[in-house]
Amino acid sequence: MDINSIKAQIDSEIGNINSPETLEELRVKYLGRKGFIPQLTGSIPNMPQGERAAFGQEVNALKNKITFLIDEKQKAITGKSTKLPLSSVDIGLPGISQELGHLHPITQVTNEICAIFSQMGFAIVEGPEVETEYNNFTGLNIPLEHPSRDVFDTFYLDAGKNENQESRIKDRLLLRSHTSPVQIRVMKSRKPPLAVVVPGRVYRPDAVDASHSFMFHQIEGFVVDENIKFSDLKGALEVFAKGVFGKNIKMRFRPHFFPFTEPSAEVDISCIICQGKGCSVCGQKGWLEILGSGMIHPRVFKNVGYQPGRYTGFAFGMGVERIAMLKYGIDDIRLFFENDLRFLKQF
Ligand code: PHE
Repeated sequence: MDINSIKAQIDSEIGNINSPETLEELRVKYLGRKGFIPQLTGSIPNMPQGERAAFGQEVNALKNKITFLIDEKQKAITGKSTKLPLSSVDIGLPGISQELGHLHPITQVTNEICAIFSQMGFAIVEGPEVETEYNNFTGLNIPLEHPSRDVFDTFYLDAGKNENQESRIKDRLLLRSHTSPVQIRVMKSRKPPLAVVVPGRVYRPDAVDASHSFMFHQIEGFVVDENIKFSDLKGALEVFAKGVFGKNIKMRFRPHFFPFTEPSAEVDISCIICQGKGCSVCGQKGWLEILGSGMIHPRVFKNVGYQPGRYTGFAFGMGVERIAMLKYGIDDIRLFFENDLRFLKQF
């Protein structure tokens, strides 16, 4: 159809329209994707170069005319225009802004602790959360009968299978209950000198309460070389504790037992709330336990294949939630995992 017959046709057809449905049909017939106007526009590329511009202008004028006629008709039928009145779109209205987030307090404290050790020359290494029973226990000199190996104290991924003892020692998989298995991984794959910190998640089937969670974070640290001494452990931990809790805190080492260190010690800092006088946070003791540590047991070195007697080393492990709770005076570990912005925004 040519432009003139379309013009004539729309003029006569529009007059007969008196419902929104028939008007819509008319709109589709002329302006729809396969309507007359797009057909005309589509024919432009096949026209002789010299005629295209003039024809295009004519088509455009016709399209505007049809649009106008349809809109007038729409108003006549429904009282509403198809066009939005200009005032209904407020282009000055501010958008919905995206709030700027920040690192979770546990991530912040982890980064802070790792940065302190990194300044002392420690490398940061991560290990898998799904571990072998060997790396998590056996290699660390934790015997089969140790209570922590019980199914009530560790999440085994294939509990019930491989119940006979032999295969248990070899390769049951579990969710690591501490970051210490990364000691085994690193020592097996690298030779001393080693100075490594290992941040990461650990899992224990504890009932959740104000101080327990089935998942929490630890940072492991260890140094292995010839002639590493207990005093090296004390020095490194003092730099760490003063870096996190301030220069004025005191430290003490209490004898303790871990199967993978000998001797072993738990480390306390003087209570940051009462400065050692005794208060409810420290249970009137004046001291707060912050981590476990010791000199790496010779059996661990044997298990990773190091030459007997050649190396000594120290190791320590701390709970990041505990450090964060002491540092910021937080009394419930669950706050870290509830995603309550009123809590998280304070850090
Ligand atoms: N792995 C121990 C725990 O989770 C902590 C520890 C690490 C103790 C290294 C001594 C040496 O309790």
